[in-house]
This record gives sequence, structure tokens and C-alpha cells, in this order.
Amino acid sequence: MRILVLGAGAREHGIVHAFHREGGHQLFAAPGNPGIGRLAELREVDLASGPAVAYLACKIKADLVVIGPEAPLTDGVADAVRAVKIPCFGPSAAAARLESSKSFAKEVMAAAGVPTAAARVAATRDEAAAALDEFGPPYVVKNDGLAAGKGVVVTDSRPAALAHAQACFDTGAQVVIEEYLDGPEVSLFCVTDGETVLPLAPAQDFKRALDNDEGPNTGGMGAYSPLPWAPGDLTDQVLDRVARPTIAQMAALGVPFQGLLYCGLALTSKGLRVVEFNVRFGDPEAQVVLARLATPLSKVLLAAATGTLAQVGSLDWSEDAAVTVVLAAAGYPGSPRLGDLISGVDAADGIPGVYVLQAGAKLDGAGCLVSAGGRVLSVVGLGRNLAAARDRAYAGISSIHLDGGRHRTDIALRAALGK
Ligand code: AMP
Ligand code: GLY
Repeated sequence: MRILVLGAGAREHGIVHAFHREGGHQLFAAPGNPGIGRLAELREVDLASGPAVAYLACKIKADLVVIGPEAPLTDGVADAVRAVKIPCFGPSAAAARLESSKSFAKEVMAAAGVPTAAARVAATRDEAAAALDEFGPPYVVKNDGLAAGKGVVVTDSRPAALAHAQACFDTGAQVVIEEYLDGPEVSLFCVTDGETVLPLAPAQDFKRALDNDEGPNTGGMGAYSPLPWAPGDLTDQVLDRVARPTIAQMAALGVPFQGLLYCGLALTSKGLRVVEFNVRFGDPEAQVVLARLATPLSKVLLAAATGTLAQVGSLDWSEDAAVTVVLAAAGYPGSPRLGDLISGVDAADGIPGVYVLQAGAKLDGAGCLVSAGGRVLSVVGLGRNLAAARDRAYAGISSIHLDGGRHRTDIALRAALGK
């Protein structure tokens, strides 16, 4: 197949890596990154422009377009590609509102009877204060729009909660204030053609910047899969109580959802609750989930894009566990320092069971790999269990040098120890 992947992160590198492992495809990526460029032909395109992406897809005679990040989905790029009759994996702009509007997602969940945190929408300081006092601490304040995983503040401090709400109001956004959900978080990705829903393997993400879940929220600092501690019926529960009712509700609303429904869940003392929906693969969870997928990814995504997912049946998984550790630039998740030399990537790639997925990295004028974003790369380790996969991911991280670079040292640690 001729496949075009849109995006430039480690998630997209992981998607391209999975297609490349299948063999026999001609792969293209736009804009991609230097790591993706070793596996696929890179093209320039304005990711915000549906017509530009549709033109590129026609020009390269793509059989399938896969849209990685949320912004082009929200901008209607999938609609533009489907309009030129090329199969596209990713929801319409209307369906992508499940991620781009937290209040819309809450309405859909309420109508579909999906369990989630109680929430209030606030547009003024007084409304925000009233909602904070209704739920009490810990306070959860979310920007209603897209914020790259950084729009949420969870805090015991009422002034800090109000200050975040005010900062959102100052940019013209409203906020969603929620009841606090306790318990471990799980990400479960569900591929759907709008009717059939096919779950991938559950994964866990580490959202806070620092060890022991301290520091600010980030896009994600690491992930692992499988989850040995999770209840055996977790996937079935999520399918029955969350994913299928949501997909059916979207169809009933006249906005069928085709693509990937990312169910971000908390396993609370009161049972399963949805923390958030996203409308694309999670980053860095995709890196570990796709590392373990044995069924050809292209077959699954093409079936979703062409309405034939029911024919795929169930998916096959590697016996191996996977762990990924993100290397971030100094300053992330605030303003990252850019332009630092990255060395040792090839050495890490040479370790058995290890590969490096690039994100905020580019080649400078001299052809050297330098940092170009907050999350610079994601090192994936595979092993017969989580402890072995962890050792490999951290061996990879140890061979890479980035001035001021930071990573968490406790990714998958508790799970590997069986805690
Ligand atoms: P979101 O952007 O909605 O995924 O939120 C980012 C992160 O904030 C989540 O992964 C959780 O760690 C945390 N969070 C969001 N909502 C809640 C909640 N209601 N209770 C506790 N933590 C939350
Ligand atoms: N890892 C969280 C996200 O992709 O939104």
C-alpha cells in the first residue's frame, strides 16, 4: 500500500515504524522528522489545510491517509481527504469535537450514560468559584479547548485553581470544573469504523513531569503495556460501558465517529470513570501499544477507514511487554530550550530490543541532530516482562546525550515490581 502519515511526533514515528515492520509498503510522511525520514519519504505540507493535504494525497496516489495529531482533525483535514475519495483514518471535524470541546464530550457522555466525573462549565470568575466550592478540593480545572495535554490543573490550592480559570478566561476560553477522580489511570484505544469497535491493548501513561507523579502535567513522560495489575475484564467493561455507547451516541447525533477513540479512564473506588476522550492515538501510549501489536496495523486502519472493521476479527499481540521513556528538553513543559545537540541515538538503536522514536528533533545546517521541541524523543524497550522492557528502555536512554535533557526514572517501576 501507499500510505501517507501526517504529523511529526514520536507517535507518528511509532505508526510509521509499525507499517515499516510489515514490509511491502511505500511510506510517506508529512512533515515527519529525521527519524521518520529513514523509513518514509518526507513531504512538506500545511497540516492545517485540508485542500493541501488532499492534493498531496492525490499526488502521491495514497491508498490510505493516517492523521496523527488532533489539530488537523479538528481543522477538518479528514473530511477533505475523504472528499477526494481516498480512505482516511481519523474522524471528521464534527466528530473530533469529542476531544476539542470538553463540554461537548460531557454532553455526549451524559446522553450515552457513560460514567465520568461530575462537571460544571464556567465562563466567569464567580461561576468558577461556585463550582470549586461545590466539589471541594482537590480542585480540577480544565481549559475547554485543545491545550496539548497542558490545559488541566489539579491542585489543593483554591487560589491556584481560580488563577488557572482566570488565565483561560483571559484567552477567551471557558473552563470545565470537575469532581476529583481517585485511583489509577488507564488509556484504552478503540479503533472504530463508526459501528464496529475494536479495542487495542490497555496502556498507562505518566503525565506528570517528575518522579513520583510530582510537578506539572505534561503531554506524557512515558508509558507501558500490558498492565499486569488491571482487572481481567477491564477491556470488556470499557467496551460495554464507554466505547460502544459513545460510538452509538455519535451515530445517533448524525456525527458518526470513524478513527481512534482514546478512552482516558480512572479506576476509582466507585468504579470506572472517563477522565477524557481524545480522537487519535495517545502519545506516548501509542509507542508501547503499537510495539506489541502483531496484526498488521495497515489492515486494521484501512478496514476502519473503509467501513469494514467487522471483517478484521480480533487482534493478535506479542507476548513481550513494552516500556517507553520520553527524553524532554530543559524547560519542558514550560518553554523548552531548543537547538541542543543530541548524540547516541544510533548507539541506543543498536541495543537489542530497543528503538528510538524521534519527536522534537531536527537536523541543523551541518546535518547534526538537535532538539527542536519539548518532548525530544521516546525510547522504546521490549522484553519478556515489564522489568526486562524497562531495563532496555533505560539502557537506551543512558546511551543518549542531550544537554539539559530530562527524563523520569520511575516509568513502569511499580508495575514491574508487582505493586
Ligand atoms: P485531561 O487533559 O482531561 O486528560 O487531563 C489531564 C490529566 O489531569 C489526567 O490524565 C489526569 O491525570 C488529570 N485529571 C483530569 N481530570 C481529572 C479528574 N477529574 N480527577 C483527577 N485527575 C484528573
Ligand atoms: N498521553 C496523553 C495524550 O496523548 O493525550
